[in-house]
Formats: sequence, C-alpha cells, structure tokens
Amino acid sequence: MQKKRIFSGAQPTGELHIGNYLGALKNWVALQEEYDSIYCIVNLHAITLPQDPKTLRQKTRDLARIYLAAGVDPEKATIFVQSDAPEHAELTWVLSCVARMGELERMTQFKDKSQKFGRRPIEAEKAHFEEIFVAASESNLENTNPPHNRRSTASFFQTLETAAAAKGTSVSEVVQAVIDSLQSKRDETRRSPAERASVGLFTYPVLMAADILLYQTDLVPVGQDQKQHLELSRDLAERFNRDFGVTFKIPEPYIPKAGASIKSLQDPAKKMSKSDENPAGSIFLLDDADTISKKIKRAVTDSGTEITFDETRPAISNLLTIYQLVTSKSAEDCVANFAGKGYGQFKGELADAVVEFLRPFQERVKQFDDETLTTILKKGAERARSIAQTTLVDVYAKMGIGR
Ligand code: TYM
Repeated sequence: MQKKRIFSGAQPTGELHIGNYLGALKNWVALQEEYDSIYCIVNLHAITLPQDPKTLRQKTRDLARIYLAAGVDPEKATIFVQSDAPEHAELTWVLSCVARMGELERMTQFKDKSQKFGRRPIEAEKAHFEEIFVAASESNLENTNPPHNRRSTASFFQTLETAAAAKGTSVSEVVQAVIDSLQSKRDETRRSPAERASVGLFTYPVLMAADILLYQTDLVPVGQDQKQHLELSRDLAERFNRDFGVTFKIPEPYIPKAGASIKSLQDPAKKMSKSDENPAGSIFLLDDADTISKKIKRAVTDSGTEITFDETRPAISNLLTIYQLVTSKSAEDCVANFAGKGYGQFKGELADAVVEFLRPFQERVKQFDDETLTTILKKGAERARSIAQTTLVDVYAKMGIGR
C-alpha cells in the first residue's frame, strides 16, 4: 500500500527557536517513519517581508542544515527549497483566481504582521517631516520677514538656488517640488500599516495552499498559528474540486496537543516568535548553554508557588510544557517531579534539560558540508518537481489552459 503523504515547511528568516522545534520539527522527524514526507524551505514566503538577499541565501541553506540536524533523514524524506520548484509560484497564480479577497482579509496573521511590519520608523519619519515643514513654511515666511528666522530663511533660499542651478530649473519649480514631496509624505503617513504591506504578505496563504495542494498531501504537521491558513487551503481545494472536478486531495492538519503554541518567556500571552524584538523571550536553537540558562532564569512566572499545568497560570504551564517535551516525560511525571520544589529549582532543572536536548542537535548542525547539502537539495527538488508537475498539468487541463 502506498504511504500517506506529509508536507510541511518553515521560513528561512530570523533564528529558529524551540517553539519551531517542539511545535513542528520534532513531529516531522517522528512522522517521517510512517509517511512519505516532504519538507520544504519556503524562501518564497520569506520575501513577503523585506529581506537582505545575501542573508536570505545563507539562511536558506542554514535551514536545510537545521532540518537535517533535527533528524530529518534525506533517505526517508524529501528536503528541498521552494524556489527550486517553480510549480509553487504557478499554482499560486491559479489559486489566487480561486481565493476570495474576503477570505484573505480574515487571516489573522496578515493583520498581525502588517501592523507590526507596515509601520514606519516614527522618529526618522518625524525628523524628515520637520525638515521639509521648516523648509516649506520658511519659504512662505519670507515676505513677512520674521527677524528670528532671517538667517535660516536666507540659507534656505541659498540652498534652493543651488538646487535650482544644479537642476537647471527655476527656484519656484524647486519650491513646488518641496511642497509636492511634503504632500506625498503626508499622504503616505496617513495610510494604514496594512495598506503599506506588500501584496505578497496578503496573498501569502495562497502560496501556502499551493505548497500543500501540489503534493496531494494527506497531513500537514504545523503549530497552532498555521491552523487558519490550513483551513483556507482546504477551502480552496474543495472549491476547485467542485468547479473543475476532483483534482486535489483535501489535507488534514496535524497540530500536536502539547507544544502547538509555545509562548514567549517574557510574555506568556504571546507566542514565541522569530520576529520578536526581545530575544529574551525566545530560546534559539543555536543559543549556547549559558544564554539558555540566563533566559530561563529570567523567564516571567505567575503568582503562586505550585508547579503544575494550570490554564490560569500560563507562564508556569508554558515552562512545564517545554520541560515535558524536551524530556519526553508524561505530564503526570513532570508535575510529580516538581512537587514541593520551588521556582528556582524548577528553572535550574528546566535549563539543564533544554541544554541537554539541544546539545546533539547543535553538534550535528555543523556536520553537513556544502557539497552534501547541495546534493540533498538537488535530489529533493527533482523528486518534488516530479510530483508537483503531475498536479499542475492536471490543474491546467481541467481549466482549459495549455495544449
Ligand atoms: P514558520 O516558519 O513561521 O514556522 C515553522 C513552524 O513552526 C511552528 N511554530 C510554532 N510552533 C509552536 N510554538 C510556537 N511558538 C511556534 N512558532 C512557530 C509553525 O506553526 C510552523 O509549523 N507559513 C509557514 C510555513 C509554510 C508551511 C507551508 C507550513 C509555508 N508553506 C505549507 C506547512 C505547509 C510559516 O511561516 O512557518
């Protein structure tokens, strides 16, 4: 019997943290034994936010190393880079014509990310504004000749004259350009952060649906934050199947009971996140032992003293969940282990357990040389493409596209 298929991926941005590991990677490794597993490095998702090209290229390969070091076995699973299979971008276009604006507008991750990244650096904006404001208003003040402004007004006109001479235009044209620039800056600042977000950030879930649906995926192991995107993938597949005939398998989410949403060590109301400005909130996979211990010691706790799983005490529950997952103990055993112990002792034991858990991973990460990596990724892309092409040919045929 053919094995059922898994597809999942992570973005090569920021530093991967223990939430990514416990919510996703750990399960990928466990599931590769039983499923035909395809794990993708989603570099096309990464560019929905600005990236430095050199860093992105490096991080793409680093992430492949992380998959391998976590235990994804290239003999059992397919590992590849998203952009090496152009079918992802092609199917995205098709599915963008199936998706509705309304359903994308409901995606909470777009709302969060566009708020967070669409904002401009306020201080720089203000300084720039003030500069133009002063310049523009001084040009009007020239006739009223306010004594306290005389010198700066004179030097301002000097600047205008120099600019006009350099451009070969009149001073009044330069003044007009200053005023236009002021106006457009004002308009831009008035726009909401969401309006300044890239279109790609908005249509990101469609690319994710294409990733999954191209491979006739049965199961998608992800953390809780991707649940809504997965539901969209299912909706798009169902809609396409209804309109054009059965083409896509409807994928099921695989969201672990424990570890689906590891929280920030500094604020248990927020998930641990690669893009958190405060590094103290996350344990990064490549943090050294000392850094890990410090971050855990400084982690916020709740009132009370007991170390138990308790929804009303999210900070301790989160730390205990991390402990449970890195030690692979049952929830009961974890609670029993800390009965009667204080927070200090708990944090010490947790830090040791996390360090031990990450040690073999951190050693393996350095083992994969460039050549080995290139071979694995090339082989992975070939296999991925052979599956993806079959789906895409079927999609186009059903829609009346192509020969
Ligand atoms: P990304 O790169 O943000 O995260 C990779 C995986 O880690 C999970 N995760 C977490 N799990 C538990 N606790 C946390 N604090 C935590 N933070 C992140 C994520 O849920 C994810 O499983 N859009 C995806 C990548 C993607 C994808 C796909 C996934 C693109 N196409 C197709 C599955 C199938 C993302 O940005 O993941």
